[in-house]
Amino acid sequence: MREAELSIALQRGLIDELVALDQDPVSLSEVEQRYTAQGMPVKPLQASIRDLIAGRTKVSDFDLIYSAGLYDYLDDKVAKRLSAVLFAALRPGGRLILTNFLKGTKDTGWSEAFMDWFLIYRDQADIEAFADDIPNEQIARLHQYQCPTGSIGYVSIRKKS
Ligand SMILES: C[S@@+](CC[C@H](N)C(=O)[O-])C[C@H]1O[C@@H](n2cnc3c(N)ncnc32)[C@H](O)[C@@H]1O
Repeated sequence: MREAELSIALQRGLIDELVALDQDPVSLSEVEQRYTAQGMPVKPLQASIRDLIAGRTKVSDFDLIYSAGLYDYLDDKVAKRLSAVLFAALRPGGRLILTNFLKGTKDTGWSEAFMDWFLIYRDQADIEAFADDIPNEQIARLHQYQCPTGSIGYVSIRKKS
């Protein structure tokens, strides 16, 4: 979540609360020390995707939900279910942004061989399909883009006001 350090809105106090959700207590402890303890409005929340989908952890009223570095681990069915749960947690007019490493990303062989880091690489159509379980009539706009190096694909889904 190093991008928090680049967020001008967060630095200027324009964000009421940023909830950092992860299942890993060590990652959350780093978030706590690095941001919360420094006075930033960052709330670490320990939960798994399973908790969210089963409704054991409830989330609601977000203007923006952003997932980086997670969907690459999820199969299509779980990815679609999770996206519907996250979309339901948005306020009217809110935005859900999801990311996934793209097929054709350079050096995936190196990552797998030397880092033992196996991800599910997807194309833009696969990433757009994350929205399949979201009721169509609730979507104001869905659009896709990718990072300048063609490594990460994004889908942005805005909820109707
Ligand atoms: C590549 S890291 C990205 C971390 C963070 N999102 C970021 O962008 O800095 C992947 C993270 O996904 C978390 N993760 C993987 N599977 C998960 C699950 N089923 N539920 C919750 N978190 C999960 C891991 O604990 C890990 O911290």
